[in-house]
Amino acid sequence: MNQQEMKQAVAAAAVEFVEEDATIGVGTGSTVNCFIDALAASGRRVESAVSSSEATSERLRGHGIRVVDLNNTGDLDLYVDGADEFDPHRRLIKGGGGALTREKVVAAASRKFVCIVDQSKRVNILGTFPLPIEVIPMARSMVARKMVAMGGQPEWREGFVTDNGNWILDVHNLDLVDPVATEKAINDIPGVVTCGLFALRPADVVLVAGSRGIEQISP
Ligand code: A5P
Repeated sequence: MNQQEMKQAVAAAAVEFVEEDATIGVGTGSTVNCFIDALAASGRRVESAVSSSEATSERLRGHGIRVVDLNNTGDLDLYVDGADEFDPHRRLIKGGGGALTREKVVAAASRKFVCIVDQSKRVNILGTFPLPIEVIPMARSMVARKMVAMGGQPEWREGFVTDNGNWILDVHNLDLVDPVATEKAINDIPGVVTCGLFALRPADVVLVAGSRGIEQISP
Protein backbone atom coordinates (compact mmCIF):
# COMPACT_ATOMS: atom_id res chain seq x y z
CA MET A 1 0.00 0.00 0.00
CA ASN A 2 1.31 3.46 -0.81
CA GLN A 3 0.59 6.43 1.46
CA GLN A 4 -2.52 7.53 -0.43
CA GLU A 5 -3.94 4.00 -0.23
CA MET A 6 -3.23 3.96 3.51
CA LYS A 7 -5.11 7.25 3.94
CA GLN A 8 -8.06 5.82 2.03
CA ALA A 9 -8.02 2.61 4.07
CA VAL A 10 -7.97 4.39 7.42
CA ALA A 11 -10.64 6.83 6.23
CA ALA A 12 -12.90 3.92 5.30
CA ALA A 13 -12.34 2.37 8.75
CA ALA A 14 -13.43 5.63 10.41
CA VAL A 15 -16.71 5.63 8.48
CA GLU A 16 -17.68 2.59 10.59
CA PHE A 17 -17.76 4.86 13.66
CA VAL A 18 -20.41 7.13 12.11
CA GLU A 19 -23.96 6.52 13.36
CA GLU A 20 -26.76 6.97 10.86
CA ASP A 21 -28.37 10.45 11.05
CA ALA A 22 -25.76 11.79 13.49
CA THR A 23 -24.25 15.25 13.49
CA ILE A 24 -20.50 14.71 13.42
CA GLY A 25 -17.41 16.88 13.76
CA VAL A 26 -15.01 16.83 10.83
CA GLY A 27 -11.35 17.87 10.94
CA THR A 28 -9.01 19.10 8.24
CA GLY A 29 -6.30 17.69 5.99
CA SER A 30 -5.68 15.19 3.25
CA THR A 31 -6.64 12.15 5.37
CA VAL A 32 -9.88 13.82 6.42
CA ASN A 33 -10.56 14.61 2.77
CA CYS A 34 -10.41 10.85 2.14
CA PHE A 35 -12.81 10.36 5.06
CA ILE A 36 -15.32 12.86 3.66
CA ASP A 37 -15.16 11.16 0.27
CA ALA A 38 -15.51 7.69 1.83
CA LEU A 39 -18.45 8.82 3.95
CA ALA A 40 -20.24 10.19 0.91
CA ALA A 41 -19.49 7.04 -1.10
CA SER A 42 -20.72 4.79 1.73
CA GLY A 43 -24.29 6.00 1.42
CA ARG A 44 -24.41 6.38 5.22
CA ARG A 45 -26.59 9.41 5.83
CA VAL A 46 -25.49 12.03 8.36
CA GLU A 47 -27.82 14.74 9.59
CA SER A 48 -25.14 17.43 9.35
CA ALA A 49 -21.51 18.18 10.13
CA VAL A 50 -19.59 20.72 12.20
CA SER A 51 -16.51 21.68 10.23
CA SER A 52 -13.07 22.69 11.49
CA SER A 53 -12.08 24.78 8.46
CA GLU A 54 -13.31 26.59 5.38
CA ALA A 55 -11.61 23.95 3.20
CA THR A 56 -13.45 21.11 4.93
CA SER A 57 -16.77 23.00 4.76
CA GLU A 58 -16.35 23.37 1.02
CA ARG A 59 -15.63 19.66 0.54
CA LEU A 60 -18.55 18.61 2.75
CA ARG A 61 -20.95 20.87 0.86
CA GLY A 62 -19.58 19.52 -2.42
CA HIS A 63 -20.87 16.11 -1.33
CA GLY A 64 -24.24 17.54 -0.28
CA ILE A 65 -23.47 17.28 3.46
CA ARG A 66 -25.02 20.12 5.44
CA VAL A 67 -22.54 22.18 7.47
CA VAL A 68 -23.87 23.60 10.74
CA ASP A 69 -22.59 25.97 13.40
CA LEU A 70 -21.27 24.41 16.61
CA ASN A 71 -23.25 27.01 18.56
CA ASN A 72 -26.44 25.32 17.38
CA THR A 73 -25.58 21.67 17.97
CA GLY A 74 -24.58 21.11 21.58
CA ASP A 75 -21.95 18.42 22.16
CA LEU A 76 -21.22 15.95 19.37
CA ASP A 77 -20.97 12.16 19.61
CA LEU A 78 -18.07 11.87 17.18
CA TYR A 79 -15.17 13.91 15.84
CA VAL A 80 -12.95 12.54 13.08
CA ASP A 81 -9.64 14.23 12.33
CA GLY A 82 -6.08 13.54 11.25
CA ALA A 83 -2.82 14.48 12.97
CA ASP A 84 0.76 15.34 12.20
CA GLU A 85 2.13 13.13 15.01
CA PHE A 86 0.73 10.75 17.60
CA ASP A 87 2.36 9.05 20.60
CA PRO A 88 1.45 5.77 22.36
CA HIS A 89 -0.84 7.69 24.76
CA ARG A 90 -2.91 9.06 21.82
CA ARG A 91 -1.53 12.55 22.35
CA LEU A 92 -1.10 14.52 19.16
CA ILE A 93 0.57 17.37 17.36
CA LYS A 94 -1.83 19.01 14.93
CA GLY A 95 -1.93 22.20 12.92
CA GLY A 96 0.24 21.40 9.93
CA GLY A 97 -2.69 22.66 7.88
CA GLY A 98 -3.19 25.65 10.18
CA ALA A 99 -6.67 24.65 11.38
CA LEU A 100 -5.60 23.77 14.94
CA THR A 101 -7.82 26.16 16.87
CA ARG A 102 -11.12 25.16 15.31
CA GLU A 103 -9.98 21.53 15.48
CA LYS A 104 -9.33 21.86 19.20
CA VAL A 105 -12.70 23.50 19.76
CA VAL A 106 -14.59 20.76 17.93
CA ALA A 107 -12.55 18.06 19.71
CA ALA A 108 -13.42 19.65 23.06
CA ALA A 109 -17.11 19.54 22.13
CA SER A 110 -17.03 15.86 21.17
CA ARG A 111 -17.56 12.75 23.27
CA LYS A 112 -15.40 10.56 21.02
CA PHE A 113 -12.40 11.76 19.00
CA VAL A 114 -11.29 9.26 16.37
CA CYS A 115 -7.91 10.22 14.91
CA ILE A 116 -7.00 8.81 11.51
CA VAL A 117 -3.34 8.55 10.49
CA ASP A 118 -0.90 6.48 8.53
CA GLN A 119 2.10 4.91 10.24
CA SER A 120 4.45 7.73 9.18
CA LYS A 121 2.91 9.87 11.95
CA ARG A 122 3.92 7.52 14.80
CA VAL A 123 6.47 8.71 17.39
CA ASN A 124 7.41 7.68 20.92
CA ILE A 125 7.87 11.27 22.09
CA LEU A 126 6.14 14.16 20.34
CA GLY A 127 8.20 16.95 18.83
CA THR A 128 9.93 15.84 15.66
CA PHE A 129 7.19 17.70 13.79
CA PRO A 130 7.48 21.45 14.57
CA LEU A 131 4.74 22.56 16.96
CA PRO A 132 2.29 25.03 15.34
CA ILE A 133 1.04 27.86 17.53
CA GLU A 134 -1.75 30.22 16.43
CA VAL A 135 -1.07 33.77 17.64
CA ILE A 136 -2.86 37.04 17.18
CA PRO A 137 -0.66 39.08 14.81
CA MET A 138 0.52 41.73 17.33
CA ALA A 139 1.84 39.02 19.67
CA ARG A 140 3.99 37.19 17.09
CA SER A 141 7.44 38.48 18.11
CA MET A 142 6.73 38.38 21.83
CA VAL A 143 5.48 34.78 21.66
CA ALA A 144 8.48 33.86 19.49
CA ARG A 145 10.83 35.20 22.18
CA LYS A 146 9.02 33.16 24.84
CA MET A 147 9.46 30.06 22.67
CA VAL A 148 13.21 30.72 22.42
CA ALA A 149 13.27 31.05 26.22
CA MET A 150 11.55 27.63 26.39
CA GLY A 151 14.33 26.17 24.24
CA GLY A 152 12.54 26.16 20.88
CA GLN A 153 13.30 27.67 17.50
CA PRO A 154 10.21 29.47 16.23
CA GLU A 155 9.63 30.08 12.55
CA TRP A 156 6.90 32.43 11.32
CA ARG A 157 4.70 30.75 8.66
CA GLU A 158 4.95 33.95 6.66
CA GLY A 159 2.12 34.72 4.25
CA PHE A 160 -0.25 32.22 5.89
CA VAL A 161 -3.40 33.56 7.59
CA THR A 162 -5.65 31.22 9.57
CA ASP A 163 -9.41 31.00 9.06
CA ASN A 164 -9.60 33.14 12.23
CA GLY A 165 -7.42 35.91 10.75
CA ASN A 166 -4.36 35.02 12.83
CA TRP A 167 -0.78 33.90 12.22
CA ILE A 168 1.13 30.68 12.87
CA LEU A 169 4.52 30.11 14.48
CA ASP A 170 6.05 26.68 13.84
CA VAL A 171 8.34 25.88 16.75
CA HIS A 172 11.19 23.43 16.19
CA ASN A 173 13.12 21.43 18.79
CA LEU A 174 10.87 22.02 21.81
CA ASP A 175 11.23 19.47 24.60
CA LEU A 176 7.79 17.80 24.68
CA VAL A 177 8.53 15.04 27.19
CA ASP A 178 5.65 16.41 29.30
CA PRO A 179 3.17 17.52 26.63
CA VAL A 180 0.35 18.28 29.11
CA ALA A 181 2.53 20.77 31.02
CA THR A 182 3.85 22.30 27.81
CA GLU A 183 0.37 22.65 26.32
CA LYS A 184 -0.79 24.49 29.44
CA ALA A 185 2.33 26.70 29.58
CA ILE A 186 2.10 27.78 25.94
CA ASN A 187 -1.64 28.35 26.05
CA ASP A 188 -1.11 30.63 29.08
CA ILE A 189 1.01 33.12 27.10
CA PRO A 190 -1.03 36.23 26.22
CA GLY A 191 -1.64 36.46 22.49
CA VAL A 192 -1.55 32.69 21.98
CA VAL A 193 -4.89 31.49 20.65
CA THR A 194 -3.87 27.87 21.08
CA CYS A 195 -0.99 25.53 20.38
CA GLY A 196 -1.19 22.37 18.30
CA LEU A 197 -0.60 19.99 21.21
CA PHE A 198 -3.60 17.76 21.86
CA ALA A 199 -2.47 16.29 25.19
CA LEU A 200 -5.01 17.70 27.66
CA ARG A 201 -7.67 16.29 25.37
CA PRO A 202 -6.00 13.45 23.45
CA ALA A 203 -7.72 11.29 20.87
CA ASP A 204 -9.93 8.53 22.28
CA VAL A 205 -9.14 6.20 19.40
CA VAL A 206 -6.24 6.36 16.96
CA LEU A 207 -6.68 4.34 13.78
CA VAL A 208 -3.30 3.72 12.16
CA ALA A 209 -2.95 2.49 8.60
CA GLY A 210 0.12 0.40 7.95
CA SER A 211 1.26 -2.19 5.45
CA ARG A 212 -0.46 -4.95 7.49
CA GLY A 213 -3.82 -3.19 7.74
CA ILE A 214 -5.49 -0.95 10.33
CA GLU A 215 -4.33 -0.90 13.95
CA GLN A 216 -6.67 0.55 16.57
CA ILE A 217 -5.13 2.23 19.63
CA SER A 218 -7.64 2.86 22.38
CA PRO A 219 -7.59 2.69 26.19
C1 A5P B 1 -4.71 20.52 10.12
O1 A5P B 1 -4.50 21.73 10.74
C2 A5P B 1 -3.94 19.45 10.82
O2 A5P B 1 -4.16 19.40 12.18
C3 A5P B 1 -4.21 18.10 10.18
O3 A5P B 1 -5.04 17.33 10.96
C4 A5P B 1 -2.94 17.44 9.98
O4 A5P B 1 -2.06 18.33 9.34
C5 A5P B 1 -3.06 16.14 9.19
O5 A5P B 1 -3.12 16.38 7.83
P1 A5P B 1 -2.90 15.23 6.77
O6 A5P B 1 -4.01 14.26 6.94
O7 A5P B 1 -2.96 15.95 5.46
O8 A5P B 1 -1.55 14.64 7.03
